Amino acid sequence: MKVAKTIKSVRALVKAARKAGRTISLVPTMGALHRGHISLIDRSIKRGDFVVVSIFVNPTQFGPKEDLSKYPRPLRTDLKICKEHGVDAVFVPTVREMYGSGTDTTVNVGKLSGPLCGRFRPGHFRGVATVCAKLFNIVGPDAAYFGQKDAQQLVIIKRMAADLNVPVEIVGCPTVREADGLALSSRNRYLSARQRKDATCIYRCLMAAREMIKAGATNPKTITAEMRKIISSAETLSSVDYISIVDADTLEEIGRIGGRVLIAAAARFGTARLIDNITVDSGKL
Ligand code: PAJ
Repeated sequence: MKVAKTIKSVRALVKAARKAGRTISLVPTMGALHRGHISLIDRSIKRGDFVVVSIFVNPTQFGPKEDLSKYPRPLRTDLKICKEHGVDAVFVPTVREMYGSGTDTTVNVGKLSGPLCGRFRPGHFRGVATVCAKLFNIVGPDAAYFGQKDAQQLVIIKRMAADLNVPVEIVGCPTVREADGLALSSRNRYLSARQRKDATCIYRCLMAAREMIKAGATNPKTITAEMRKIISSAETLSSVDYISIVDADTLEEIGRIGGRVLIAAAARFGTARLIDNITVDSGKL
């Protein structure tokens, strides 16, 4: 496994792989790798591609009061995990390598960045779309892998790639969870034991929503009210950012359940902001 710290060196590795007839896959991450990230890596490895994992804690997607400085950076363990899973190259650039002394160009995916997390993290998705566009231009992958866990991010990246004619296939992968339903996240390590136990309320409220729809509920407001009750019963909950049911493709609010809907929630436990979601095809339940 090769470790590339510069744009020039990762491009050289990709060029050589292409020359050898390989197809290129990219798995963009911010490191602190867990089974969620690994599921994306394994899926790309299975295709027999030359797999590049990028590890870069991207400062432009963090707000001024967010956890950029304390975000975990266990690079040695991350490299070990990549190696064990058969990754071909890891791209680990510095902030200077990615942004030089500052850039003047950003990628803004308009409407899709407005709702859900966009309301609570202004500028976040501009940072995400910009860094992903840069990574696509640097690596030039045939396919790039993203988790459904960050559903809004996945929709935004798909739209950005389509709108900017980036020749990359965006592959969405299912959310990996703990046995009790909590979605794996690098931020789960901020939770105390009690908060960790309580945090399952997010998954439980998503499951309750699914059951309600299955039983015939059609009013999103009735469903989200029930979800709020479940989340609010957690003693160590600090606050709820949102509990929403939106169209799974446009992320627009819906007045009545129908078609493919995204049920999403974001809640804070102490300093940890946790998000989770499920997609429900109401016609197929
Ligand atoms: P990060 O949070 O490190 O996540 C990297 C990728 O792993 C994302 O596509 C995310 O959706 C996926 N992922 C995280 N937890 C998962 C889980 N439990 N199950 C399945 N997939 C999971 O998302 C980012 O980094 C950044 O915004 C990035 C895209 C790298 C741009 O900086």
